[in-house]
Parts: sequence; structure tokens; C-alpha cells
Amino acid sequence: MSVENIESVMQETRKFAPSSEFASKARIGRWEDYETMYRRSIDDPGAFWGEIAQELHWFQPWKQVLDESEKPFFKWFTGGKINACYNCVDRHVANGKADQEAIIWEGEPGDTRTLTYAQLLDEVQRFANVLKQLGIGKGDTVAIYLPMIPELAIAVLACARIGAVHSVIFAGFSAESIKDRVQDGQSKLVITGDGAWRRGNVLKLKDVVDQGIKDCASVENVLNVARNPDGERFECAMQDGRDHWYHELASQVSAECPCEELDSEDLLFLLYTSGSTGKPKGIMHTVGGYSVYTYLTTRYVFDLQEDDVYWCTADVGWITGHSYLVYGPLQNGTRVVMYEGAPNHPQPDRFWEIVEKHKVSVFYTAPTAIRAFMKWGDEWVEKHDLSSLRLLGTVGEPINPEAWMWYHEKVGGGRCPIVDTWWQTETGGILLSPLPGVTPTKPGSATRPFFGVDAAILDAEGNEQKAGLLAIRKPWPSILRGIWGDPERFKNTYWNHWNGQYYFPGDGARVDDDGYFWIVGRVDDVVNVSGHRIGTAELESVFVEHPNVAESAVIGVPHDIKGQGLVAFVLLRGTDAEGSDALRQELNKMVEEKIGKFARPEKIIFSADLPKTRSGKIMRRLLRDIATGQALGNVTTLADPSVVDKLKAQYSS
Ligand code: WTA
Repeated sequence: MSVENIESVMQETRKFAPSSEFASKARIGRWEDYETMYRRSIDDPGAFWGEIAQELHWFQPWKQVLDESEKPFFKWFTGGKINACYNCVDRHVANGKADQEAIIWEGEPGDTRTLTYAQLLDEVQRFANVLKQLGIGKGDTVAIYLPMIPELAIAVLACARIGAVHSVIFAGFSAESIKDRVQDGQSKLVITGDGAWRRGNVLKLKDVVDQGIKDCASVENVLNVARNPDGERFECAMQDGRDHWYHELASQVSAECPCEELDSEDLLFLLYTSGSTGKPKGIMHTVGGYSVYTYLTTRYVFDLQEDDVYWCTADVGWITGHSYLVYGPLQNGTRVVMYEGAPNHPQPDRFWEIVEKHKVSVFYTAPTAIRAFMKWGDEWVEKHDLSSLRLLGTVGEPINPEAWMWYHEKVGGGRCPIVDTWWQTETGGILLSPLPGVTPTKPGSATRPFFGVDAAILDAEGNEQKAGLLAIRKPWPSILRGIWGDPERFKNTYWNHWNGQYYFPGDGARVDDDGYFWIVGRVDDVVNVSGHRIGTAELESVFVEHPNVAESAVIGVPHDIKGQGLVAFVLLRGTDAEGSDALRQELNKMVEEKIGKFARPEKIIFSADLPKTRSGKIMRRLLRDIATGQALGNVTTLADPSVVDKLKAQYSS
């Protein structure tokens, strides 16, 4: 978050109460009801969550709601048997929703596919049988590198159905990133596709996978999904014995595949996310708690009603797509819109065209998208009838009040509440958010904790403060269960504050007099670029692989559209501090190849030295001051204080 933004939210006094019309129809429409429920969820979580969990289907009831005996390795609904796919699909077919739309898919070129719950059940069972035929069973890891086509959701659900652990890799990641994730998770199968449309071009995903898995001994098979099931194939190489076209295998399997009855604490998925060291972490989520929490948060935060058409614009490759495109909304039996392509293709009104076409009523997107729309101009929004919308949501980074107001007025026509939802890959579901029928909103604030969430702002000693570190003091059902293969890192990252008592999310925040939370941003070395987490250490380790680079320091800086951008200070070997554009291009290409295009820095500065303490630690704080044009903080601890002046001159030249 930029300094200007912190200042503007500090002065923010506007408050928007839900209209009485919205409140009268909302699932929770009275403040007293919210308070009673919240109190109960905190005072008696066992009873609260036990009751909610009963709204889902369990093959066998749980014995204990929460087991804290191995804190911080919490267990929820122990002894219970459940299947997330059953709750997303079969349950609705059995309960009269067979013919209701489940997924309304829109391709970038304008082609559409609609799957009812009955059709989704059929597709998911077939997919699950194909997985089984390829030797996948309970506990096996399956990497999924697919574009935003219906088969992405289907593949995820098919894994859940048979108890395989999905590890979805966002389709913007490079071959090298695929390799890291496939090797770490020991994936036996990789699911990919022949292509997808993005801004009018075809992304060749299969080629990237082929390159990525060259040295992955665990991979036995590759399943290749055709973007156009009944139409043109995009060209790609198929390796005999290893690679299979999905549609060919699917035509040979039965359309019936029963759900595996899983233990509540069986692994549902791994999803890799960046932390403050170079290696991404495989965040672990298990079936029972994750199901219950995503079910309930979707229901209440998005106030889902029977006739809603719900659209979350996130890619399933990120946690938002997992929890609020697939599992949360489908468990609630709603109609889910899924879109393949870019928001500005063929024109900057593509999202609004889709809202109008499919009569979307609940719309969930990210601040970076909202800021891009603001820049593209009001006329693109004004061209469309958006009267179907009744509720808007935002996620991924702090939203600046100006963007909030624009969203509220231009997209929401001044009538739609906005839910600013704060959460993380690790939390599995939304922890801070308004409830749209009761919580008056303030532009830029994620307002208050959800049911069962005991949030506070603490200092390093654990004292409550008005500003400081965000802490969560009680476990909630979808809390991460660990980091795959690295329990020590799990403890060190999230539980090394406050004597291991509370969960540490890594965000700084403040709380106002109404008890509203205002997230300021990360306090670790993670930068949020367009809502995507990138560890600065990840980029630094890419740069030092170049033979000419001795050392580098990467920082986050405010960016008008992306929220934050990356700036790299690169120290070259020898005396060549000048560098060259050619070298800059080489380094950018390395970032593309090792992480992905989205991680490219805004600026690469070659320098002769970096500001370091006498013990050799790079002072990133000073680099940030230089990059943002701030007055320099304390420089007295520097080994060579003149370094910052040189860098400052160089940065602005
Ligand atoms: C940031 C995305 C302010 C935060 C769901 C968090 C937010 C990180 C918000 C997690 C919000 C997410 N307001 N900041 N509404 N939502 N963040 O794991 O810094 O990709 O720690 O999960 O995004 O990013 P992740």
C-alpha cells in the first residue's frame, strides 16, 4: 500500500450503511442477530461450528469439533467422513437442482458452455474415472496446469471425489515454477491443455509443461485437455506412453464413480504461495474444516440467494479461485460464472458485457482490476446495463478509497454494498469482511472479523494496540494444516510470534474507534503485485544465477494499477556498475523463465554498492525510501553512508 493511500485511509470518514431494502432480504439483516451469532461463535466455537457443519453432507458424523492437543497442528471435525465433491455436486442433484446451471462458462472469443448440476456430476465422474485409469487414487498428488476452462473446475472436483490431492499451478507460471511444484509435491500426474485464449493469442500450455517436467521423475502420465472439446485442436507434441488426450480416455470410461469417504483431516489440496525465502511453500488444506468454512463464508459474505448469478473473476490457480469460484459457491448450489480471458479483450468493457449478458448479481474482483477500469474510462462501464448487480466484493490487496468509491458509484450504481474481504492462501477463507446486510462499510476497510475469528492488533509483546501486527487468536476451521514437507517452517513462519499462541499472518494493520480493521500491507518481504504474492527473495535468487550478478535486493514500491510493483537493485561483478539494456533484458527474461511474466520488475537499477549495515545486512528500508522519494530514514548504522546518496542520484536520473 502506498504512503498516500495510508494517509488517505487514515482520514477516511465516509460510512455507507446497507439500504433497508437490501437488509430486509439479506440472510443476516439485523445487527442484533449478527452480534448474537458472533458472540456465540467466539464463546462456544464447538457448538457454533458443529451446527453449521451439519448443513453439509457427512458419511459419518465427527466425534470432536476441534482438537487442539497438537497445537499449532489443529484438527477439525475429527472422526467425521466427508467428501467435498459430494457437497459441491451430488448433494444438489439429489436435492432438486439437477437442471439448474452450475457453471456458466464464457470463452474469450465469446463461445459459451453451460453445465447444469446434473451435467457437472456426469463430467466430474468421467474425469474421476479417467484419473483412476491412470493409476491415481487416494493420497496421490495431481498437478493441474490448466487455463480457465470448465475442465479446470472439473479436474479439481474429480480429484476431490477420489481423494487425490490437487496442486493447481496458475497457468501464468513458467516451466521452472512447474518443476519446483511438481517435484516438491511429488505429483504423479500433470493435467494440462492444448491451449487457451488470452488477449486474442493462444497460450500453449502443454509446451510449457513438457519443458517443466523434463526432470520430474515422479510424473508417470500427462493428461491433455482440448480447449475445444468438439472443435479445432491446437497443435502440441504428444509423447507416446506418457501423454493422453482427455477426450479420448473419457469416451471409454463409465459415467459413474462413487465418492471416496474421506477422513475430515485427509488432505484436500496443496497450493503453493510465496514467502520471505526463495522457495514457495506448499500450503496444506484438509477436507472437513475447509469445506465448512468456505461454505459458510460464501453464504454469508456474499449473501447468496436462490436466484443469484455469482461471478468471481479470480483464476482457479490462486486461492480465491479455489475457495470462491469452486468450493464455496458450488457447495452453496449457486450459479457460477467462469471467464477464460482478459478483462479488456476485445475491448475494455468485456467484464461489463459479461455481467449484462449473464445477468450477474454478485460480482467479486480485485482492486488492481478496478483501478485498471478506472483508467480505461467510465464510458466502458456506462455503455452497459448493470442493474442485475446487487452486491460487489473485492480481495487481494488493500483497496484505496478512490477505487472503492468508483466501484461503488460506477459499477454498483450507488446501491450495491461492497464487501472488502481480507484473507490469505493460508487462511483458506475470508477472515475479515463486512456482512453486507448489517455492516456499515467504510471505503478502504475490511471492517470486522467473520464468525469464529478472534482478530486483534498487537505489538511484538502481544499487547493490544491501535496499529501494529494483525494477529488471529483462535483457530478457525480452514486454517492451514501445515507446509508440505516442512513442519519447522510452518512453526517458524506463522507461530514464532507471541510465544506460539496466536497465528501471525504477516500483515500490518490498524483498528479504528468502531473496531474496524484497516490492512496496511505485508510486514515481511512479500510484495503484492496485482494481488499476486511474490517473495522478493525469489527474484533475488533468480538474479544471482546470472554470471555477471554479484548480489541484488528487490523491494516493493507503490504502483498506480498493480498496487505494488517491484524494483530491483542489482550489483554487478567487477567494476561494471553501469550495466546495459541488453543485460536488463537478459535479467527480465530470466524472471519470465524462472517464475513467470507477472513477476517482472518495473525497474532494474544497476549499482556499484548497496546500503548495508556493518554486519552486512542490506537495508531495504532505505532502498524503499530512495524509490519512493521519501526523506531517508536513519543512516547512521550504515557501513558506508555515502552509498545511499549515490543510489538516490542514480534512481532519479
Ligand atoms: C493481502 C489472497 C488488504 C494481504 C486471498 C494478505 C489484502 C495477502 C486483502 C494474501 C484485503 C488480501 N485488503 N489486503 N481485502 N486481501 N490481502 O495468499 O497482504 O494471495 O496477506 O490470498 O494479500 O494473499 P493471497
